[in-house]
Amino acid sequence: MGRVALVTGGTRGIGAAIARALKDAGYAVAANFGGNEEAANAFAEETGIPVYRWDVSDYDACAEGVARVEADLGPIEILINNAGITRDAFLHKMTPEMWRAVIAVDLDSVFNMCRLIIPGMRERGFGRIVNVSSVNAQKGQMGQTNYAAAKAGMIGFTKSLAQEVAAKGITVNAITPGYCETDMVRAVPEKVLNERILPQIPVGRLAQPEEIARAVLFLVDDDAGFITGATLAINGGQYMA
Ligand code: NAI
Repeated sequence: MGRVALVTGGTRGIGAAIARALKDAGYAVAANFGGNEEAANAFAEETGIPVYRWDVSDYDACAEGVARVEADLGPIEILINNAGITRDAFLHKMTPEMWRAVIAVDLDSVFNMCRLIIPGMRERGFGRIVNVSSVNAQKGQMGQTNYAAAKAGMIGFTKSLAQEVAAKGITVNAITPGYCETDMVRAVPEKVLNERILPQIPVGRLAQPEEIARAVLFLVDDDAGFITGATLAINGGQYMA
């Protein structure tokens, strides 16, 4: 059996594509999810990937979840921080709850999961962490001050942790996907998608989740040990940092 990989929010959308790609490549994969138990169980049945429910914004729940995964599969050697939510509104209409929910799920979760998993990686002298940020962290997006702040926070976190653990055989990278065909983007009104978003993407279409998974597979490879602290854009040319 290959190395043990955990994907947060790994039962649908981009996370599910990452979990499937890792499994197909021979990794022993666990997928975390936040809700919709029925859909997660259907995913587990179809793919054979075990699924674990916990809230990634809750530190104690993460501790308990990580312990369950490690009891079942062994030490986590690869961590993909993919779980995320949006609560879009212009700032003058954004409630403190919308702000806090996004910071908690999209950014606190990265601290929670890395804080729990990094000590074991340090001890064993190997680890691969990929943080799923967003093109909107780099270019900004009206209606997403909360989301862009959380996703940009992930990039600073990535670069800092990468420096701390580089000598321990652990790499920490961020990816910044552009608009990808998942439930998150299906929630965007079609008019906004066709008239405002698609014209900004030189490739002329949305990404498929599998195209994001390819990049993750590349970054977690044993042979990718010299790539760390990087921010890899996968956005169809929408924004070139
Ligand atoms: P999605 O909404 O289809 O899936 C999100 C996943 O996160 C689900 O599996 C859900 O269960 C999980 N999740 C949400 N809250 C959670 C919580 N509190 N605890 C545990 N799990 C939780 O989203 P999608 O589109 O697949 O996005 C995945 C990641 O990629 C997110 O971080 C998102 O911000 C990012 N992203 C998505 C883009 C897109 O166009 N779809 C573009 C750029 C980044």
